[in-house]
Amino acid sequence: MFKSEKSTVAWWDTAVIYQVYPRSFKDSNGDGEGDLRGVINEIPYLQSLGIDAIWLSPFFKSPNKDGGYDVSDPRDVDPRFGKISDAEDLIEEAHSAGIKVIFDIVPNHFSSEHLWFKAALASKPGSPERDRFHFADGQGEGGNTPPNNWNSIFNGPAWTRVIETDGKPGQWYLHLFDSSQPDLNWENKDVSDDFEKTIRFWLDRGLDGFRIDVAHGLYKSDIHTNHRDPEGLTHALRLDLGGMDHDVRTALLSDIPFFGQTKTHEIYRKWRTILDSYPDKRMAVAEAFLYPTSRLADYVRPDELHQVFNFDYMAVEWSAEKIRDSVNRSIQELAGVGAIPSWVMDNHDSPRVVSRLKSEDKARAFALLTHALPGAVYVYQGEELGLADGIIPDEARQDPSYIRSGGKDKGRDGARVPLPWNSKESNFGFSTGTPWLPMHSSMKAHSADLQEGDSGSFLNLYRTSFALRKRLATQGVSKELVWREGPEGIVYFTRGSGFSVLANTTDAPIDVNVHTAVMVILESKGGASVDGTIVTVPAHTTLWLQS
Ligand code: GLC
Ligand code: CA
Repeated sequence: MFKSEKSTVAWWDTAVIYQVYPRSFKDSNGDGEGDLRGVINEIPYLQSLGIDAIWLSPFFKSPNKDGGYDVSDPRDVDPRFGKISDAEDLIEEAHSAGIKVIFDIVPNHFSSEHLWFKAALASKPGSPERDRFHFADGQGEGGNTPPNNWNSIFNGPAWTRVIETDGKPGQWYLHLFDSSQPDLNWENKDVSDDFEKTIRFWLDRGLDGFRIDVAHGLYKSDIHTNHRDPEGLTHALRLDLGGMDHDVRTALLSDIPFFGQTKTHEIYRKWRTILDSYPDKRMAVAEAFLYPTSRLADYVRPDELHQVFNFDYMAVEWSAEKIRDSVNRSIQELAGVGAIPSWVMDNHDSPRVVSRLKSEDKARAFALLTHALPGAVYVYQGEELGLADGIIPDEARQDPSYIRSGGKDKGRDGARVPLPWNSKESNFGFSTGTPWLPMHSSMKAHSADLQEGDSGSFLNLYRTSFALRKRLATQGVSKELVWREGPEGIVYFTRGSGFSVLANTTDAPIDVNVHTAVMVILESKGGASVDGTIVTVPAHTTLWLQS
Protein backbone atom coordinates (compact mmCIF):
# COMPACT_ATOMS: atom_id res chain seq x y z
CA MET A 1 0.00 0.00 0.00
CA PHE A 2 2.77 2.43 0.93
CA LYS A 3 5.45 2.78 -1.68
CA SER A 4 8.84 2.99 0.00
CA GLU A 5 9.59 6.60 -0.84
CA LYS A 6 12.96 8.12 -0.27
CA SER A 7 11.57 10.42 2.37
CA THR A 8 14.32 9.97 4.93
CA VAL A 9 17.87 10.98 4.23
CA ALA A 10 20.38 8.15 4.61
CA TRP A 11 23.60 8.87 6.50
CA TRP A 12 25.74 8.83 3.37
CA ASP A 13 23.50 11.30 1.51
CA THR A 14 24.84 14.31 3.40
CA ALA A 15 27.98 12.82 4.95
CA VAL A 16 31.47 14.20 4.97
CA ILE A 17 33.64 11.19 4.21
CA TYR A 18 37.37 11.48 4.85
CA GLN A 19 39.72 9.34 2.79
CA VAL A 20 42.60 7.84 4.73
CA TYR A 21 45.54 6.62 2.67
CA PRO A 22 46.87 4.42 5.48
CA ARG A 23 50.45 4.19 4.28
CA SER A 24 50.84 7.96 4.55
CA PHE A 25 48.55 8.83 7.43
CA LYS A 26 50.46 8.05 10.64
CA ASP A 27 53.20 5.55 11.47
CA SER A 28 52.90 3.97 14.93
CA ASN A 29 55.97 1.70 14.92
CA GLY A 30 58.73 3.70 13.25
CA ASP A 31 59.12 1.66 10.06
CA GLY A 32 58.42 4.71 7.90
CA GLU A 33 55.00 3.59 6.74
CA GLY A 34 51.63 4.50 8.17
CA ASP A 35 49.57 1.71 9.69
CA LEU A 36 46.19 0.89 11.23
CA ARG A 37 47.39 1.65 14.79
CA GLY A 38 48.39 5.05 13.51
CA VAL A 39 44.84 5.63 12.30
CA ILE A 40 43.36 4.39 15.58
CA ASN A 41 45.64 6.71 17.56
CA GLU A 42 44.43 9.68 15.52
CA ILE A 43 40.72 9.05 15.91
CA PRO A 44 40.49 12.12 18.20
CA TYR A 45 41.93 14.21 15.35
CA LEU A 46 39.42 12.75 12.90
CA GLN A 47 36.66 13.42 15.37
CA SER A 48 37.82 17.02 15.79
CA LEU A 49 37.30 17.56 12.06
CA GLY A 50 33.60 16.90 12.39
CA ILE A 51 33.50 14.26 9.67
CA ASP A 52 30.92 11.48 9.53
CA ALA A 53 32.90 8.60 8.06
CA ILE A 54 36.34 7.50 6.98
CA TRP A 55 37.19 5.51 3.88
CA LEU A 56 40.47 3.63 4.06
CA SER A 57 42.42 2.81 0.93
CA PRO A 58 43.58 -0.85 0.89
CA PHE A 59 45.63 -2.30 3.75
CA PHE A 60 45.05 -5.91 2.77
CA LYS A 61 47.72 -8.48 2.14
CA SER A 62 49.70 -7.20 -0.83
CA PRO A 63 53.19 -7.07 -2.32
CA ASN A 64 52.40 -3.37 -2.67
CA LYS A 65 53.31 -2.88 -6.30
CA ASP A 66 50.40 -0.45 -6.68
CA GLY A 67 49.97 1.01 -3.22
CA GLY A 68 48.02 -2.02 -1.99
CA TYR A 69 45.58 -1.99 -4.94
CA ASP A 70 47.29 -5.26 -5.82
CA VAL A 71 45.63 -7.52 -3.29
CA SER A 72 46.98 -11.00 -2.61
CA ASP A 73 44.47 -11.80 0.16
CA PRO A 74 41.43 -9.54 0.59
CA ARG A 75 40.47 -11.15 3.90
CA ASP A 76 43.76 -10.53 5.65
CA VAL A 77 45.67 -7.43 6.71
CA ASP A 78 49.16 -6.87 5.37
CA PRO A 79 51.76 -7.06 8.17
CA ARG A 80 53.06 -3.60 7.22
CA PHE A 81 49.65 -2.25 8.31
CA GLY A 82 48.97 -4.54 11.28
CA LYS A 83 46.68 -7.47 11.96
CA ILE A 84 43.03 -8.35 11.45
CA SER A 85 42.44 -7.44 15.07
CA ASP A 86 43.70 -3.92 14.34
CA ALA A 87 41.12 -3.57 11.57
CA GLU A 88 38.46 -4.80 14.01
CA ASP A 89 39.62 -2.38 16.69
CA LEU A 90 39.62 0.43 14.19
CA ILE A 91 35.98 -0.21 13.28
CA GLU A 92 35.01 -0.45 16.93
CA GLU A 93 36.88 2.62 18.09
CA ALA A 94 35.74 4.74 15.18
CA HIS A 95 32.17 3.72 15.94
CA SER A 96 32.60 4.73 19.57
CA ALA A 97 33.71 8.13 18.29
CA GLY A 98 30.61 8.37 16.09
CA ILE A 99 32.51 7.76 12.85
CA LYS A 100 31.43 5.22 10.23
CA VAL A 101 34.02 3.14 8.42
CA ILE A 102 34.31 2.23 4.75
CA PHE A 103 36.97 -0.07 3.27
CA ASP A 104 38.16 -0.41 -0.28
CA ILE A 105 37.32 -3.52 -2.26
CA VAL A 106 39.29 -4.24 -5.43
CA PRO A 107 37.30 -6.61 -7.66
CA ASN A 108 38.86 -5.90 -11.05
CA HIS A 109 42.11 -7.70 -10.34
CA PHE A 110 44.16 -9.59 -7.81
CA SER A 111 47.87 -9.34 -7.22
CA SER A 112 50.02 -11.72 -9.23
CA GLU A 113 51.08 -13.01 -5.79
CA HIS A 114 47.55 -14.24 -5.06
CA LEU A 115 47.44 -18.04 -4.74
CA TRP A 116 44.99 -18.22 -7.63
CA PHE A 117 47.36 -16.56 -10.03
CA LYS A 118 50.25 -18.73 -8.96
CA ALA A 119 48.04 -21.75 -9.55
CA ALA A 120 47.06 -20.37 -12.96
CA LEU A 121 50.70 -20.02 -13.98
CA ALA A 122 51.40 -23.58 -12.89
CA SER A 123 48.41 -24.90 -14.89
CA LYS A 124 47.78 -25.53 -18.55
CA PRO A 125 46.03 -23.26 -21.05
CA GLY A 126 42.31 -23.93 -20.86
CA SER A 127 42.47 -25.11 -17.24
CA PRO A 128 39.94 -24.03 -14.59
CA GLU A 129 42.81 -22.25 -12.79
CA ARG A 130 43.44 -20.07 -15.83
CA ASP A 131 39.76 -19.43 -16.35
CA ARG A 132 39.64 -17.20 -13.24
CA PHE A 133 41.75 -14.68 -15.15
CA HIS A 134 41.90 -13.61 -18.78
CA PHE A 135 44.46 -15.82 -20.46
CA ALA A 136 44.59 -15.93 -24.25
CA ASP A 137 46.87 -17.04 -27.05
CA GLY A 138 48.80 -14.35 -28.86
CA GLN A 139 48.24 -13.36 -32.46
CA GLY A 140 50.49 -13.84 -35.46
CA GLU A 141 53.50 -16.03 -35.89
CA GLY A 142 54.32 -17.99 -32.74
CA GLY A 143 51.65 -16.03 -30.91
CA ASN A 144 54.17 -13.27 -30.43
CA THR A 145 51.68 -10.40 -30.66
CA PRO A 146 49.26 -9.68 -27.79
CA PRO A 147 45.68 -10.94 -28.29
CA ASN A 148 44.43 -7.39 -28.92
CA ASN A 149 45.60 -3.76 -28.89
CA TRP A 150 44.30 -2.76 -25.46
CA ASN A 151 46.56 -0.51 -23.44
CA SER A 152 47.17 -0.54 -19.74
CA ILE A 153 45.80 2.47 -17.90
CA PHE A 154 49.33 2.78 -16.51
CA ASN A 155 50.75 2.92 -20.09
CA GLY A 156 52.10 0.20 -22.34
CA PRO A 157 50.27 -2.93 -23.46
CA ALA A 158 47.57 -4.45 -21.23
CA TRP A 159 48.97 -7.95 -21.87
CA THR A 160 51.97 -9.81 -20.54
CA ARG A 161 53.20 -13.12 -21.87
CA VAL A 162 53.87 -15.99 -19.51
CA ILE A 163 56.46 -18.74 -19.61
CA GLU A 164 54.65 -22.05 -19.63
CA THR A 165 55.65 -25.00 -17.45
CA ASP A 166 57.66 -26.40 -20.38
CA GLY A 167 59.90 -23.31 -20.21
CA LYS A 168 58.58 -21.81 -23.48
CA PRO A 169 56.78 -18.49 -23.99
CA GLY A 170 53.07 -19.25 -24.01
CA GLN A 171 49.80 -17.48 -23.38
CA TRP A 172 49.22 -13.86 -22.48
CA TYR A 173 47.21 -12.53 -19.55
CA LEU A 174 45.25 -9.29 -19.35
CA HIS A 175 46.05 -6.50 -16.89
CA LEU A 176 44.29 -3.18 -17.30
CA PHE A 177 46.77 -1.82 -14.74
CA ASP A 178 50.25 -3.05 -13.83
CA SER A 179 51.47 -6.48 -14.93
CA SER A 180 51.39 -7.38 -11.22
CA GLN A 181 47.59 -6.88 -11.29
CA PRO A 182 46.05 -9.64 -13.46
CA ASP A 183 42.39 -8.91 -14.28
CA LEU A 184 39.83 -11.32 -12.91
CA ASN A 185 37.33 -13.09 -15.15
CA TRP A 186 33.90 -12.17 -13.82
CA GLU A 187 32.27 -14.86 -15.97
CA ASN A 188 33.86 -17.35 -13.58
CA LYS A 189 31.77 -18.28 -10.56
CA ASP A 190 34.77 -18.74 -8.26
CA VAL A 191 35.42 -15.03 -8.71
CA SER A 192 31.95 -13.79 -7.82
CA ASP A 193 31.71 -16.25 -4.92
CA ASP A 194 35.02 -15.13 -3.51
CA PHE A 195 34.05 -11.45 -3.53
CA GLU A 196 30.75 -12.16 -1.86
CA LYS A 197 32.71 -13.95 0.83
CA THR A 198 34.97 -10.93 1.25
CA ILE A 199 32.02 -8.54 1.50
CA ARG A 200 30.40 -10.64 4.20
CA PHE A 201 33.72 -11.10 5.97
CA TRP A 202 34.05 -7.36 6.59
CA LEU A 203 30.35 -6.62 7.07
CA ASP A 204 30.33 -9.31 9.77
CA ARG A 205 32.99 -7.23 11.51
CA GLY A 206 30.76 -4.19 11.59
CA LEU A 207 31.99 -2.37 8.49
CA ASP A 208 29.61 0.33 7.22
CA GLY A 209 30.42 0.16 3.54
CA PHE A 210 32.75 -0.31 0.61
CA ARG A 211 34.42 1.87 -1.93
CA ILE A 212 34.49 -0.24 -5.08
CA ASP A 213 37.70 0.11 -7.06
CA VAL A 214 37.35 0.36 -10.87
CA ALA A 215 33.67 -0.44 -10.46
CA HIS A 216 33.00 0.07 -14.17
CA GLY A 217 35.66 -2.33 -15.42
CA LEU A 218 34.78 -5.81 -14.24
CA TYR A 219 33.29 -7.26 -17.40
CA LYS A 220 35.17 -7.18 -20.65
CA SER A 221 33.65 -7.50 -24.08
CA ASP A 222 35.08 -10.07 -26.45
CA ILE A 223 38.85 -9.89 -26.17
CA HIS A 224 39.08 -10.12 -29.93
CA THR A 225 37.66 -6.60 -30.18
CA ASN A 226 40.36 -4.03 -30.65
CA HIS A 227 40.00 -0.66 -29.03
CA ARG A 228 39.73 2.18 -31.53
CA ASP A 229 42.00 4.61 -29.64
CA PRO A 230 44.28 3.06 -27.00
CA GLU A 231 46.48 6.16 -26.64
CA GLY A 232 43.48 8.46 -26.37
CA LEU A 233 42.15 6.35 -23.54
CA THR A 234 45.28 6.54 -21.41
CA HIS A 235 45.34 10.28 -22.03
CA ALA A 236 41.69 10.82 -21.10
CA LEU A 237 42.11 8.91 -17.86
CA ARG A 238 44.98 11.06 -16.66
CA LEU A 239 43.58 13.12 -13.84
CA ASP A 240 46.61 15.38 -13.76
CA LEU A 241 45.85 16.77 -17.21
CA GLY A 242 43.31 19.50 -16.62
CA GLY A 243 41.27 21.45 -19.09
CA MET A 244 39.53 18.45 -20.58
CA ASP A 245 35.89 19.31 -20.91
CA HIS A 246 33.01 16.91 -20.74
CA ASP A 247 32.72 16.58 -24.53
CA VAL A 248 36.47 16.12 -25.02
CA ARG A 249 36.57 13.28 -22.53
CA THR A 250 33.37 11.86 -23.97
CA ALA A 251 34.93 11.70 -27.43
CA LEU A 252 37.96 9.86 -26.09
CA LEU A 253 36.16 7.56 -23.71
CA SER A 254 33.14 6.22 -25.57
CA ASP A 255 33.02 2.62 -26.88
CA ILE A 256 35.64 1.15 -24.61
CA PRO A 257 35.44 -2.62 -24.76
CA PHE A 258 36.42 -3.04 -21.11
CA PHE A 259 34.46 -0.26 -19.39
CA GLY A 260 30.80 0.08 -18.54
CA GLN A 261 29.61 -3.26 -19.87
CA THR A 262 25.93 -3.86 -19.10
CA LYS A 263 26.51 -7.11 -17.24
CA THR A 264 28.48 -5.25 -14.57
CA HIS A 265 25.19 -4.10 -13.07
CA GLU A 266 24.18 -7.66 -12.26
CA ILE A 267 27.10 -7.81 -9.84
CA TYR A 268 25.99 -4.70 -7.99
CA ARG A 269 22.38 -5.81 -7.77
CA LYS A 270 23.63 -8.93 -6.07
CA TRP A 271 25.95 -7.00 -3.76
CA ARG A 272 23.11 -4.67 -2.87
CA THR A 273 21.05 -7.59 -1.61
CA ILE A 274 23.97 -8.60 0.59
CA LEU A 275 24.39 -5.07 1.97
CA ASP A 276 20.66 -4.83 2.62
CA SER A 277 20.62 -8.14 4.45
CA TYR A 278 22.67 -6.59 7.28
CA PRO A 279 21.22 -4.48 10.09
CA ASP A 280 22.03 -0.76 10.20
CA LYS A 281 22.57 0.88 6.90
CA ARG A 282 25.55 -0.41 4.90
CA MET A 283 26.53 1.34 1.71
CA ALA A 284 28.76 1.17 -1.34
CA VAL A 285 30.31 3.88 -3.47
CA ALA A 286 31.53 3.23 -6.99
CA GLU A 287 34.81 4.43 -8.36
CA ALA A 288 33.42 4.63 -11.87
CA PHE A 289 34.95 6.76 -14.57
CA LEU A 290 32.63 6.95 -17.54
CA TYR A 291 31.74 9.51 -20.17
CA PRO A 292 29.28 10.89 -20.93
CA THR A 293 28.69 11.18 -17.19
CA SER A 294 25.01 10.33 -17.66
CA ARG A 295 26.16 6.70 -17.74
CA LEU A 296 27.12 6.92 -14.08
CA ALA A 297 23.46 7.12 -13.06
CA ASP A 298 23.07 3.44 -13.93
CA TYR A 299 25.38 2.53 -11.03
CA VAL A 300 23.15 4.24 -8.46
CA ARG A 301 19.77 2.97 -9.52
CA PRO A 302 17.59 2.11 -6.51
CA ASP A 303 18.64 -1.56 -6.50
CA GLU A 304 22.36 -0.98 -7.13
CA LEU A 305 24.99 1.10 -5.35
CA HIS A 306 24.40 4.13 -3.16
CA GLN A 307 26.92 6.57 -4.52
CA VAL A 308 29.32 7.19 -7.33
CA PHE A 309 32.35 9.47 -7.19
CA ASN A 310 32.05 12.70 -9.07
CA PHE A 311 35.28 12.85 -11.07
CA ASP A 312 33.94 15.33 -13.57
CA TYR A 313 33.58 17.84 -10.75
CA MET A 314 37.00 16.91 -9.36
CA ALA A 315 38.65 17.97 -12.62
CA VAL A 316 36.55 21.09 -13.23
CA GLU A 317 38.31 24.34 -14.10
CA TRP A 318 38.12 27.29 -11.73
CA SER A 319 35.52 29.02 -13.88
CA ALA A 320 32.01 30.02 -12.80
CA GLU A 321 30.47 28.75 -16.00
CA LYS A 322 32.23 25.39 -15.97
CA ILE A 323 31.49 24.84 -12.30
CA ARG A 324 27.79 25.59 -12.84
CA ASP A 325 27.68 23.21 -15.81
CA SER A 326 29.34 20.40 -13.93
CA VAL A 327 27.21 20.80 -10.79
CA ASN A 328 24.03 21.00 -12.84
CA ARG A 329 24.89 17.96 -14.87
CA SER A 330 25.63 15.88 -11.78
CA ILE A 331 22.47 16.87 -9.97
CA GLN A 332 20.20 16.39 -12.96
CA GLU A 333 21.69 13.15 -14.21
CA LEU A 334 21.49 11.49 -10.82
CA ALA A 335 18.07 12.90 -9.97
CA GLY A 336 16.77 10.83 -12.86
CA VAL A 337 17.34 7.68 -10.76
CA GLY A 338 16.59 9.29 -7.38
CA ALA A 339 20.26 9.50 -6.32
CA ILE A 340 22.16 12.36 -4.74
CA PRO A 341 25.59 13.45 -5.97
CA SER A 342 28.90 13.19 -4.16
CA TRP A 343 31.47 15.96 -4.46
CA VAL A 344 35.16 15.18 -4.70
CA MET A 345 38.02 17.67 -4.85
CA ASP A 346 40.95 15.30 -4.93
CA ASN A 347 42.13 11.82 -3.98
CA HIS A 348 45.20 9.59 -3.99
CA ASP A 349 45.12 9.34 -7.81
CA SER A 350 44.87 13.01 -8.67
CA PRO A 351 46.97 16.09 -8.09
CA ARG A 352 46.18 17.81 -4.82
CA VAL A 353 43.68 20.60 -5.33
CA VAL A 354 46.11 23.36 -4.25
CA SER A 355 48.53 22.16 -6.94
CA ARG A 356 45.86 21.65 -9.58
CA LEU A 357 44.45 25.15 -9.10
CA LYS A 358 47.94 26.54 -8.40
CA SER A 359 46.61 28.67 -5.56
CA GLU A 360 45.69 28.27 -1.91
CA ASP A 361 43.06 30.99 -2.18
CA LYS A 362 41.34 29.20 -5.03
CA ALA A 363 41.51 25.88 -3.18
CA ARG A 364 39.94 27.45 -0.09
CA ALA A 365 37.21 29.07 -2.17
CA PHE A 366 36.59 25.82 -4.07
CA ALA A 367 36.34 23.96 -0.76
CA LEU A 368 33.68 26.28 0.67
CA LEU A 369 31.76 26.12 -2.56
CA THR A 370 31.95 22.33 -2.51
CA HIS A 371 30.96 21.98 1.14
CA ALA A 372 27.85 24.06 0.47
CA LEU A 373 26.49 21.78 -2.26
CA PRO A 374 23.67 19.34 -1.54
CA GLY A 375 25.03 15.78 -1.25
CA ALA A 376 28.01 13.97 0.23
CA VAL A 377 31.49 15.46 0.37
CA TYR A 378 34.66 13.39 0.09
CA VAL A 379 37.84 14.86 1.59
CA TYR A 380 41.27 13.41 0.94
CA GLN A 381 43.67 13.34 3.88
CA GLY A 382 45.83 16.45 3.94
CA GLU A 383 43.32 18.44 1.91
CA GLU A 384 42.22 19.96 5.23
CA LEU A 385 45.82 21.07 5.80
CA GLY A 386 45.99 22.76 2.42
CA LEU A 387 48.83 20.51 1.32
CA ALA A 388 50.22 20.85 -2.17
CA ASP A 389 51.68 17.88 -4.04
CA GLY A 390 54.89 16.76 -2.41
CA ILE A 391 58.22 17.67 -3.94
CA ILE A 392 59.80 14.34 -4.84
CA PRO A 393 63.04 13.59 -6.65
CA ASP A 394 62.38 11.26 -9.58
CA GLU A 395 64.52 8.48 -8.12
CA ALA A 396 62.20 8.32 -5.10
CA ARG A 397 59.05 7.82 -7.18
CA GLN A 398 57.27 4.49 -6.79
CA ASP A 399 54.04 4.70 -8.74
CA PRO A 400 53.82 2.06 -11.50
CA SER A 401 52.36 4.65 -13.86
CA TYR A 402 55.62 6.62 -13.55
CA ILE A 403 57.66 3.52 -14.19
CA ARG A 404 55.51 2.15 -17.04
CA SER A 405 55.43 5.48 -18.88
CA GLY A 406 59.20 5.75 -18.74
CA GLY A 407 58.84 8.90 -16.63
CA LYS A 408 56.57 10.70 -19.12
CA ASP A 409 53.76 10.56 -16.60
CA LYS A 410 55.11 11.70 -13.23
CA GLY A 411 52.57 9.49 -11.54
CA ARG A 412 50.61 9.90 -8.36
CA ASP A 413 53.27 9.89 -5.65
CA GLY A 414 52.98 13.66 -5.22
CA ALA A 415 49.55 13.30 -3.65
CA ARG A 416 50.70 10.42 -1.44
CA VAL A 417 53.44 12.05 0.60
CA PRO A 418 52.87 11.44 4.34
CA LEU A 419 51.03 13.97 6.49
CA PRO A 420 52.86 16.60 8.56
CA TRP A 421 51.45 16.34 12.09
CA ASN A 422 53.92 18.29 14.15
CA SER A 423 56.31 21.00 13.02
CA LYS A 424 58.73 20.36 15.88
CA GLU A 425 59.23 16.63 15.49
CA SER A 426 61.38 14.72 13.04
CA ASN A 427 59.52 13.94 9.81
CA PHE A 428 56.94 16.38 11.12
CA GLY A 429 55.62 13.76 13.51
CA PHE A 430 54.64 11.26 10.82
CA SER A 431 57.25 8.67 11.73
CA THR A 432 60.36 8.21 13.83
CA GLY A 433 61.82 6.20 10.94
CA THR A 434 62.49 7.17 7.34
CA PRO A 435 59.22 8.03 5.55
CA TRP A 436 58.55 5.84 2.50
CA LEU A 437 58.35 9.00 0.39
CA PRO A 438 60.51 12.02 1.20
CA MET A 439 58.83 14.82 3.16
CA HIS A 440 60.14 18.13 1.83
CA SER A 441 60.94 20.92 4.31
CA SER A 442 58.25 23.12 2.73
CA MET A 443 55.62 20.90 4.36
CA LYS A 444 56.51 22.18 7.79
CA ALA A 445 54.39 25.33 7.47
CA HIS A 446 51.34 23.13 6.87
CA SER A 447 51.78 20.97 9.96
CA ALA A 448 48.60 20.29 11.87
CA ASP A 449 50.01 21.66 15.16
CA LEU A 450 50.71 25.06 13.62
CA GLN A 451 47.21 25.23 12.15
CA GLU A 452 45.49 24.14 15.37
CA GLY A 453 45.64 27.50 17.09
CA ASP A 454 45.36 29.67 13.99
CA SER A 455 41.75 30.67 13.42
CA GLY A 456 42.52 31.57 9.80
CA SER A 457 44.14 28.23 8.94
CA PHE A 458 42.97 25.77 6.32
CA LEU A 459 42.34 23.24 9.07
CA ASN A 460 40.02 25.53 10.97
CA LEU A 461 38.25 26.60 7.79
CA TYR A 462 37.41 22.94 7.16
CA ARG A 463 36.31 22.39 10.75
CA THR A 464 34.09 25.45 10.72
CA SER A 465 32.50 24.64 7.41
CA PHE A 466 31.74 21.05 8.43
CA ALA A 467 30.22 22.25 11.69
CA LEU A 468 28.14 24.90 9.95
CA ARG A 469 27.06 22.41 7.28
CA LYS A 470 25.69 20.22 10.04
CA ARG A 471 23.99 23.12 11.74
CA LEU A 472 22.39 24.26 8.50
CA ALA A 473 21.16 20.71 7.86
CA THR A 474 19.45 20.59 11.26
CA GLN A 475 17.97 24.01 10.55
CA GLY A 476 16.37 22.51 7.47
CA VAL A 477 18.46 23.99 4.68
CA SER A 478 16.86 22.98 1.40
CA LYS A 479 18.13 19.93 -0.48
CA GLU A 480 17.33 21.88 -3.59
CA LEU A 481 19.93 24.17 -5.12
CA VAL A 482 18.60 27.19 -7.04
CA TRP A 483 20.92 29.23 -9.28
CA ARG A 484 20.67 33.00 -9.09
CA GLU A 485 21.62 35.61 -11.63
CA GLY A 486 24.96 37.16 -10.81
CA PRO A 487 27.73 39.08 -12.56
CA GLU A 488 30.09 37.17 -14.82
CA GLY A 489 32.65 35.11 -12.91
CA ILE A 490 30.36 34.68 -9.90
CA VAL A 491 28.79 31.38 -8.85
CA TYR A 492 25.62 32.27 -6.97
CA PHE A 493 23.06 29.86 -5.58
CA THR A 494 20.59 29.54 -2.74
CA ARG A 495 19.36 26.56 -0.79
CA GLY A 496 16.05 27.68 0.61
CA SER A 497 15.34 31.25 1.58
CA GLY A 498 17.84 31.47 4.42
CA PHE A 499 21.11 30.27 2.92
CA SER A 500 23.03 31.44 -0.12
CA VAL A 501 26.52 31.11 -1.52
CA LEU A 502 28.62 33.46 -3.60
CA ALA A 503 31.92 32.41 -5.14
CA ASN A 504 34.10 34.81 -7.06
CA THR A 505 36.28 32.92 -9.55
CA THR A 506 38.00 36.05 -10.87
CA ASP A 507 41.10 38.09 -9.98
CA ALA A 508 39.17 41.20 -8.87
CA PRO A 509 36.55 41.92 -6.19
CA ILE A 510 32.94 41.90 -7.47
CA ASP A 511 29.83 43.59 -6.05
CA VAL A 512 26.72 41.44 -6.11
CA ASN A 513 23.19 42.64 -5.37
CA VAL A 514 21.53 39.88 -3.35
CA HIS A 515 18.24 41.83 -3.05
CA THR A 516 17.81 41.12 0.64
CA ALA A 517 19.56 41.77 3.93
CA VAL A 518 22.27 39.17 4.54
CA MET A 519 24.99 38.31 6.98
CA VAL A 520 28.28 36.66 6.03
CA ILE A 521 28.48 33.50 8.16
CA LEU A 522 31.63 32.07 6.62
CA GLU A 523 34.27 33.31 4.19
CA SER A 524 37.13 31.40 2.59
CA LYS A 525 39.35 34.47 3.01
CA GLY A 526 38.86 37.81 4.77
CA GLY A 527 37.86 41.03 3.08
CA ALA A 528 34.16 40.69 2.28
CA SER A 529 31.79 43.52 3.08
CA VAL A 530 28.04 44.07 3.02
CA ASP A 531 26.41 47.40 2.32
CA GLY A 532 22.63 47.19 2.28
CA THR A 533 21.90 44.41 -0.20
CA ILE A 534 25.24 44.74 -1.97
CA VAL A 535 27.85 42.15 -1.08
CA THR A 536 31.46 42.71 -2.10
CA VAL A 537 33.12 39.38 -2.78
CA PRO A 538 36.93 39.54 -2.83
CA ALA A 539 38.88 37.84 -5.64
CA HIS A 540 38.93 34.02 -5.48
CA THR A 541 36.71 33.91 -2.43
CA THR A 542 33.58 32.05 -1.44
CA LEU A 543 31.06 33.47 1.03
CA TRP A 544 28.28 31.70 2.89
CA LEU A 545 25.41 34.06 3.57
CA GLN A 546 22.44 33.84 5.86
CA SER A 547 19.37 36.00 5.56
C1 GLC B 1 41.86 2.79 -8.78
C2 GLC B 1 42.66 3.24 -7.60
C3 GLC B 1 44.07 3.42 -8.03
C4 GLC B 1 44.60 2.08 -8.50
C5 GLC B 1 43.70 1.51 -9.60
C6 GLC B 1 43.99 0.05 -9.82
O1 GLC B 1 41.79 3.73 -9.78
O2 GLC B 1 42.10 4.39 -7.05
O3 GLC B 1 44.88 3.92 -7.00
O4 GLC B 1 45.88 2.23 -9.00
O5 GLC B 1 42.34 1.58 -9.26
O6 GLC B 1 43.54 -0.71 -8.75
CA1 CA C 1 54.30 1.48 10.40
